[in-house]
Amino acid sequence: MIFYDEQTKIFYLESKGLTYAFSVSEGIPEHLWFGARIARDNLHFTRGWGANGFDAELPGQFCRNHLAAEVPTYARGDYREPMLSCRGEAGEPVCELRYVRHHISDSHAVTGMPSTYGGQTLELTVEDPVKGMEATLFYTVFEDAPSVTRFARISNTGKGMLKLERAYSFSFDLPGNQYDVLSLFGAWARERMPERTPVRHGVTSIDSKRGSSSAVLNPFLGILARGTSETSGDAYGVSLVYSSSFRLLAEGTQSGRTRVCGGINDFGFSEQLAPGEGFDTPEVVLAYSGEGIGGMSRALHDTFRSHLIPPAAVASPRPIVINNWEATFFAFDYEKLFAIIDSSAGRGIDTFVLDDGWFGTRDNDRSGLGDWFINRTKLPQGLTPIIDRCHERGLKFGLWFEPEMVNPDSDLYRAHPDWAVHVPGYEPMLCRHQLMLDLTRGEVRDYVVNAVTAILDTNEIDYVKWDSNRNLTEMYSESLPAGSQGAFAHRWVLGLYDICRRIISSHPSVFFEGCSGGGARFDPAMLAFFPQIWTSDDTDAGMRTRIQYGTSIVYPLSAMSCHVSACPNHQVGRMSTFETRAAVAHLGATGYELNTSHLPQEELDKIPAQTAEYRRMEPLVQSGDLYRLSDPFTSSDFAFLLVAKDRSLAHLTLIRQMTEANEEGFFLRMQGLDPDAVYFIEETGERLHGSTLMQVGIRIRGMRDFGIFIRHFTRQ
Ligand code: DGJ
Repeated sequence: MIFYDEQTKIFYLESKGLTYAFSVSEGIPEHLWFGARIARDNLHFTRGWGANGFDAELPGQFCRNHLAAEVPTYARGDYREPMLSCRGEAGEPVCELRYVRHHISDSHAVTGMPSTYGGQTLELTVEDPVKGMEATLFYTVFEDAPSVTRFARISNTGKGMLKLERAYSFSFDLPGNQYDVLSLFGAWARERMPERTPVRHGVTSIDSKRGSSSAVLNPFLGILARGTSETSGDAYGVSLVYSSSFRLLAEGTQSGRTRVCGGINDFGFSEQLAPGEGFDTPEVVLAYSGEGIGGMSRALHDTFRSHLIPPAAVASPRPIVINNWEATFFAFDYEKLFAIIDSSAGRGIDTFVLDDGWFGTRDNDRSGLGDWFINRTKLPQGLTPIIDRCHERGLKFGLWFEPEMVNPDSDLYRAHPDWAVHVPGYEPMLCRHQLMLDLTRGEVRDYVVNAVTAILDTNEIDYVKWDSNRNLTEMYSESLPAGSQGAFAHRWVLGLYDICRRIISSHPSVFFEGCSGGGARFDPAMLAFFPQIWTSDDTDAGMRTRIQYGTSIVYPLSAMSCHVSACPNHQVGRMSTFETRAAVAHLGATGYELNTSHLPQEELDKIPAQTAEYRRMEPLVQSGDLYRLSDPFTSSDFAFLLVAKDRSLAHLTLIRQMTEANEEGFFLRMQGLDPDAVYFIEETGERLHGSTLMQVGIRIRGMRDFGIFIRHFTRQ
């Protein structure tokens, strides 16, 4: 809950297990504490430096370089990274924001962007009357999740123009400078690989300049007290609810504190605000755990599951799809699709998804995007025969779209070449032979919404895979004034959110899955629309253990779409058993991505048991606590333990990567179980105490390469 102490002018923001506190001293909100829950009195001792940044004893001697401001600004003596930088009409950079009012409410919403829901929100307004600028700082706390969220609403309350040059979402200063940053880097087919580096004096930052959150660096920064491990130590998780260019940073400073701030990338960014106009920054989720990286992940998972992912999808059974992409790529006809549908039906797979290639003149990736009408050469009777076949066989039908894009070889482009993002006089850069539609323009958004809606409304479609296969170039729109061109990437993503909201909210019975050339737009803002996202085009079981491990650092398992695909694997050529591929896929929203009509009968016969096992695990995948017991980046094993919130059930999956002969084996210790309870282990018939399982562990021995070790635990 949120508590304001009138006497000390301290705000206490309390979420499950944590306190975030700041005071208002001489009008300036000054950060006091972010971390484990502490008592509400005498917090002022954490204020190392007096109001306005000078030691109270030595007024006028020091600048604000030691002030832990909640909204540090530029050009007032704080030489560290500011949260806001804004020029007035004369170009002056000063911005002096002081408290004017606050208000506590039960709702919050970021204008034009997805955000968390629920919780209690403090709206604290600070103003600069000289400049004619107001900023309202929104802080939200949750009783059931160890995180606080923040965003800022900036308004021009003056008579002249304001030019925003940096509009980050948050800033806080942590005591001391002994921290590491944890980030998730990657590329196509190897998304979200964890990387940990020490914070040094100076700035350690990650960013995207692509107009997409991207596979290259996820919009997440872990701040770990030095020595923090998977299971112990202070771990802060900073996760930006945003899908466009971002920057997150940690700065080791001369004051012996560490500043953490970030938001929309200010590289190339500027936005003008006319009198009366406002600007919202994206929301950031700030999670905390004293139980190491694992605890931080669980804090983020709980926040996203309870306050971000569309509630209807959080705990309801997900579709188990068969997707035709890797089975046929673009080369399909009715016969091939019917064969896949027929051989998949009756085995627990419940949805057939027709991927890329069903529309326009789309026979390869050089044409057709933008033409959302059926490819009659390939499918002369349209989608109806496929949908009918699915229904006859007891399956639902799903369809792929890439609504944000256009191929130069398309009717849409020939009719409206100016609708593609471009700068007049320059040949627009192609990527995968396609261009991006200018979603800052209302008429372009209307076209996309109407075209996709027309297909959804004239066919029985239960599932949509929404893909996006390139990033922005030529960040410019002829429809924007010169002073807003610097905000093009931001305005483009607002356009994307608009079409997502309009299409998705008008089709409540359709299940929407996100995708971006694999998992290149796997971020909290997308999760607010798409309860699950295609994790990676790399479906090799070995690589997937790494990708899913890295992704789980921030995102819950239920957010990851995970398919069993063919061997040798398309991306890396590796062989692994059908069982291992399924065991890895079961640690997310499971599906299949292979030609079931080409599968050997013995593998086909295994699918019913696999889908039944996934359905059995699904409540744990969706709502359980994740314990990462073994790290595939630093050991030969990957091991996830899923534990029900009430600790009555648990599921262990261990996958060996490279094994060695004559190994001694080891004991793998469980976590998160009830130490006083007895657990029945289904595979061995043993009954062992939770304390034994957690202290002594389970013996692992004799594993083969990419072999699996699975245990189901039931509390007696
Ligand atoms: C990229 C996706 O990640 C794939 O699954 C597939 O849908 C292709 N695009 C289709 O072009």
